[in-house]
Amino acid sequence: MNVMQNVGIGSAINRVDGLQKVTGQARYAAEHPVPGLVYGVIVSGAVPKGRILALDEAEARAVPGVIEILTHKNRPHIAWFDHSHKDMVAPPGSPFKALYDDRIHFSGQPIALVLAESFEVARHAASLVRASYEVEPHNTDFHKAQAERFMPSKKRDSFQPPKNRGDAGAAYEAAPVKVSADFHLATEHHNPMEMHASTVIWEGDGGITVFDKTQGPQNVRDYLAGVFNMSAKNIRVMNPYVGGAFGSGLRPQYQVYLAVMAARMLRRSVRVVMTRQQMFTHGHRPEALQSVQLGAERDGRLTAIRNSATTSTSRYENNMENVVNWGMMNYACENAAGEYAIAPVDTATSSDMRAPGAATGMTFFEMAVDEMAHAAGIDPLEFRIRNYSEIDQMNGTPFTSKALREAYAEGAAAFGWSRRSQAPRSMKEGRELVGWGVATGMWDAMFSKTSASARLTANGHLEVASAASDIGTGTYTVMAQAAADTLGLPVEQITVRLGDSTLPTAPVEGGSWMAASVGAAVQLACRSVAEKLLKAAEKMENSPLGSASLDEVRFAGGRISLRDDPARGVAIAEIMRAAGMDAIEVQETASGGISGMISQMRKSRNTHSAIFAEVRVDEELGVIRVTRIVNAVAAGRIINPKTARSQILGGVVMGIGMAMHEESMADHRYGRFMNHNYAEYHVPVNADIGDIQVIFVDEPDPEVTPLGVKGVGEIGIVGTAAAVANAIFHATGKRVRSLPITIDKVF
Ligand code: MOS
Repeated sequence: MNVMQNVGIGSAINRVDGLQKVTGQARYAAEHPVPGLVYGVIVSGAVPKGRILALDEAEARAVPGVIEILTHKNRPHIAWFDHSHKDMVAPPGSPFKALYDDRIHFSGQPIALVLAESFEVARHAASLVRASYEVEPHNTDFHKAQAERFMPSKKRDSFQPPKNRGDAGAAYEAAPVKVSADFHLATEHHNPMEMHASTVIWEGDGGITVFDKTQGPQNVRDYLAGVFNMSAKNIRVMNPYVGGAFGSGLRPQYQVYLAVMAARMLRRSVRVVMTRQQMFTHGHRPEALQSVQLGAERDGRLTAIRNSATTSTSRYENNMENVVNWGMMNYACENAAGEYAIAPVDTATSSDMRAPGAATGMTFFEMAVDEMAHAAGIDPLEFRIRNYSEIDQMNGTPFTSKALREAYAEGAAAFGWSRRSQAPRSMKEGRELVGWGVATGMWDAMFSKTSASARLTANGHLEVASAASDIGTGTYTVMAQAAADTLGLPVEQITVRLGDSTLPTAPVEGGSWMAASVGAAVQLACRSVAEKLLKAAEKMENSPLGSASLDEVRFAGGRISLRDDPARGVAIAEIMRAAGMDAIEVQETASGGISGMISQMRKSRNTHSAIFAEVRVDEELGVIRVTRIVNAVAAGRIINPKTARSQILGGVVMGIGMAMHEESMADHRYGRFMNHNYAEYHVPVNADIGDIQVIFVDEPDPEVTPLGVKGVGEIGIVGTAAAVANAIFHATGKRVRSLPITIDKVF
């Protein structure tokens, strides 16, 4: 019954929330006006570990306009009824509890919340709060932390270790061509434009409405209900617009906890916004060490893979990632062994950051593959094709689809890869060395049970709703398109509601599962509306549709008509009028349908990509420029080529940042990230980005998710840094195995 309209699934419409965003009508968490608002400013601690001995608040309290200063000593006894309460995406361990006691776990930990009648007063008073500490020995040096590395356990941490096959050790020893490489990734912090912020509206009856910067309003609602022992019914969390997050908004951050605590104590509305500096005092992409050893025959056939990695976590939680699995899954090789460990440092717990695990592990594996191709004297693209696997090699399972071969081919053609000369330093233009590199990307194609409602009114207006989030990824647009596709309505007649915990249940916006999941839920809800309309039409006198089934009709232009005889049809408004219906309202839940059974069918679900990078290197000036990237993506069905392309562009930019810019630098004497601002934490700026071409290869996959959609939020970053690093080697002949590749490491 689907009718391909120019707004439905597959069409490149503009994002439906675009106008709101570019005209400033879209309000973010700290922008909602509330009368009588109290402003909270967080005081951050100065030492990495120890105890607070004393807090001197006298001077701060004397500032006119200061209402209260919350610390561990005077905080209300309302929080953490259940000391182990966790948000739904918390890793194993004991979550950080702000202002809970005098213990200091990491530098920058919140030690007080200054509440005042104006933001300026709160900020000034916060600068007057003084603390003295008993400092304990600490370690933030990840290399030193290797002495404490340990493997996460299956039982305590629910961690599935990588599955080994064959005898990788013996095969590596026997291999005629060997490569062994040790890699390091610096800590990176998510740096979305919008900082973590919460506006808590005191509703008077004990209830609260919270505008929060989060990727999951229901996760925040349930977390607040748990830690404050409140009924979830009395908490409404809203995040209609989110100014980027990249994973930093998956877990509730401490400002929402502090803001709600203050609102409940003062019985007033409260806003708390983190500073840019404070954005470096919570989750971050873990620092990582990875060792890859590869063995191959002289013809380039891989015979051994050994892949081992350690990532950083805190002392109070075990944050884990799938780092080593990707290369073991992707390449045909009979012998493969992986090992994954974590090591604690005295910082806040590391967290998910765009393509967690894969962005690290696939990148380093693909840098090692480049080294192997070079050692074997084979073109690095040809090397990958020689070792291509149609199945998931680690799990021994087929993929629902894997059009990586097509991605290699289409990417290579668009890039002009066949014109590459093999030897490093062999391509030059003017005074610059030119380098071309290739890498593979891989991510999961996940689905998460999601509900959506649909309400069609007699005037032809449709509203679809779900407690999903749009963190800039295009969820509003995806929902509108799924609805338009199913009911044949123009998007102007469709209102999408999301970002509200009172709407039908949806997961956090993460893992690249949102488009596939909420798209399917909206489609189900709209199908259910369609069925009700059809039933009503058939009850009409002289029904023009007879007893046609859903498959025999089409929805277009506000009408239902027969597929075989489009002249025979009836307007939706007319059906509803005849049936005396003002509105049709339904709610449906998508649980994955056939794809939900895939785990029993033992198929792997993944996205793949082929990334080609060009760098130009001026050796005299010590300048490296990334001039061109082609990223060819196999991600199943693309709901909107325009917004999907934007996701890949963003991922590529972030990948270039990973390759050459992003690095949170700690001064280990003080255990603190020192470059905690946009000036010194480098992300790529416009001048750092050259030409980026995105290709979506054709990959029909009816099994992977109900709509055949795999998701594109994260695949764009995976492997991009490797393509750049490999291009830098090709240009300069120099291997740099530590990211970011800053110029001091090259020249
Ligand atoms: Mo993404 S790291 O799952 O928000």
